[in-house]
Amino acid sequence: MATRRCISVLLLAYLHNCDGSLLFASYYQDHMVLQKSPERAVLWGYGPEDARVLVSVSGPTHQETSPVSVTNGIWRITLDPVDAGGPYNVTAAAQNSSATLTDVLFGDVWLCGGQSNMRFTISQVFNASEELALAPKYPHVRTFVAALKLSETELTDLIQVELPWSVPTARNLAGFSAVCWLFGRYLYENLKYPIGLVESCWGGTPVEAWSSSRALQQCGLETTTDSPQSNSVLWNAMIHPLLNMTLKGAIWYQGETNADYHQDKYNCSFPAMIDDWRMAFHQGSGSQTAMDFPFGFVQLSTYKKGSTDDGFPNIRWHQTADVGFVPNHRMRRTFMAVAMDLPDKTSPYGTIHPRDKQDVAYRLTLGARAVAYNEKAVLFLGPFLSQILCTEMYVNISYDQEVSVMPSKDIFEICCSKIKAPCGPKSLWFPAPIIQWDQTTIQLSASMCPPATEVAALRYAWKDWPCDFKACPVYSGSKILPAPPFISNRYPIKGNVWTSF
Ligand SMILES: *[C@@H]1O[C@H](CO)[C@@H](O)[C@H](O)[C@H]1NC(C)=O
Ligand SMILES: *[C@@H]1O[C@H](CO)[C@@H](O)[C@H](O)[C@H]1NC(C)=O
Ligand SMILES: *[C@@H]1O[C@H](CO)[C@@H](O)[C@H](O)[C@H]1NC(C)=O
Ligand SMILES: *[C@@H]1O[C@H](CO)[C@@H](O)[C@H](O)[C@H]1NC(C)=O
Ligand SMILES: *[C@@H]1O[C@H](CO)[C@@H](O)[C@H](O)[C@H]1NC(C)=O
Ligand SMILES: *[C@@H]1O[C@H](CO)[C@@H](O)[C@H](O)[C@H]1NC(C)=O
Repeated sequence: MATRRCISVLLLAYLHNCDGSLLFASYYQDHMVLQKSPERAVLWGYGPEDARVLVSVSGPTHQETSPVSVTNGIWRITLDPVDAGGPYNVTAAAQNSSATLTDVLFGDVWLCGGQSNMRFTISQVFNASEELALAPKYPHVRTFVAALKLSETELTDLIQVELPWSVPTARNLAGFSAVCWLFGRYLYENLKYPIGLVESCWGGTPVEAWSSSRALQQCGLETTTDSPQSNSVLWNAMIHPLLNMTLKGAIWYQGETNADYHQDKYNCSFPAMIDDWRMAFHQGSGSQTAMDFPFGFVQLSTYKKGSTDDGFPNIRWHQTADVGFVPNHRMRRTFMAVAMDLPDKTSPYGTIHPRDKQDVAYRLTLGARAVAYNEKAVLFLGPFLSQILCTEMYVNISYDQEVSVMPSKDIFEICCSKIKAPCGPKSLWFPAPIIQWDQTTIQLSASMCPPATEVAALRYAWKDWPCDFKACPVYSGSKILPAPPFISNRYPIKGNVWTSF
């Protein structure tokens, strides 16, 4: 009877037995990082029905929880807040058995999701051997990888672990996500306390696979399930099992697959997935993971030089919910690393996989410092337009911060219209050369507009591969942060940035 119940309840979990011993869920392991104060870490696992389980934590501080009962084969406990540090031993004990996690640290736990550019490993980046050689200098940045698995139903635990929680070594980091590791390492350098990195991503996957049916419904996307391309299958197997762990935030590098798969819906599906993850992690952790936990992402880099396909520029725009920058009213507490200026023509992994992940991760870290850690003085996004002034001869763009400009004949484009109608990606666009600039404005020539038309729209860097490596025409005053791409329509006039005289 007890055995039968155990099997039926835990059919989909793998890491436990039914002989009555106490176990932690698959992703609670030696060397792990648990979320530090002010949040409270949630722990759960398996045990014999009705057994009373309590958890004790011993290390720089000590605590023992009150006992909870095993119900349907599962126990679950929320610790009192623990400050950053360690090492700790965490023991779950029942009358007849116990399980212990050793060398546990408390710090910030970040989830790293997405497709192949998040999966892209440290051994594949530029300067890989130098990066790997640094591993032993960061024993307080710990890594974990969920195995690539899919499921047609929402799972309670991971089917398999690819890399158990580990203290970094050149060897175990070689196959770890470069963006995730470098983000964690740069954060550690800034915060000086432990960072836990949970990699759960899969190459070639669309956002739909990582979204619950709840999120998909919001965007009119139905549910299908038969391959990694299918809706919700990775949400079910690789995200849902993690909901009960307390997290600080998440970073995400995905969108390439959606450049030719439900591209028009990405301005809905991506923000909807973020909202849904936030709600689900908040609920799953018993309100410990913030309802609006910080979510950072990488805006698509580049794929085909010289291509006129607008898939990548459209996805870049949709990644911001068609606003151009984040955070914005639709995507609160998000941050973005622009990467369109980091192309890699000779990447042995294909041009869609640029090898410079250091700059990507560094820009993400700036966003995390500003948005997740409230460092007011940290600038993390390049210049964005604040006003467009139009005459017959030229267009003046005002930016929200100082600009550093290199001349270009065609990075800006204008769409000219007789009929005061909005322009879209399929409209006729003409190059608008940069004529001159000062600290915060750029002046473009509007002379390409045919007679009797006026400038009705303006766009910047609206190409798959808009510039060479770190050579886009507009950067922040510091020359570090590229201006993100934008498209702006003069019509219809509703509180927009266009003025004329
Ligand atoms: C503990 O072990 C005893 C003796 O083997 C057994 O009778 C009892 O049912 C066990 N209790 C639990 C909660 O598993
Ligand atoms: C954790 O347990 C190990 C033995 O399992 C012990 O050597 C170590 O001292 C313990 N550490 C703490 C912080 O209690
Ligand atoms: C999303 O983009 C599509 C295609 O560009 C557009 O038709 C639609 O209005 C946009 N939806 C939202 C919610 O912005
Ligand atoms: C984890 O959270 C989900 C969602 O709130 C909940 O349905 C599930 O029972 C939780 N699992 C455990 C083991 O607590
Ligand atoms: C690789 O190392 C060289 C020499 O230290 C450095 O100049 C370059 O910026 C590094 N590349 C990346 C992508 O970090
Ligand atoms: C347009 O910008 C240029 C420099 O970029 C500046 O010299 C000029 O005064 C501006 N024109 C107006 C009308 O603001």
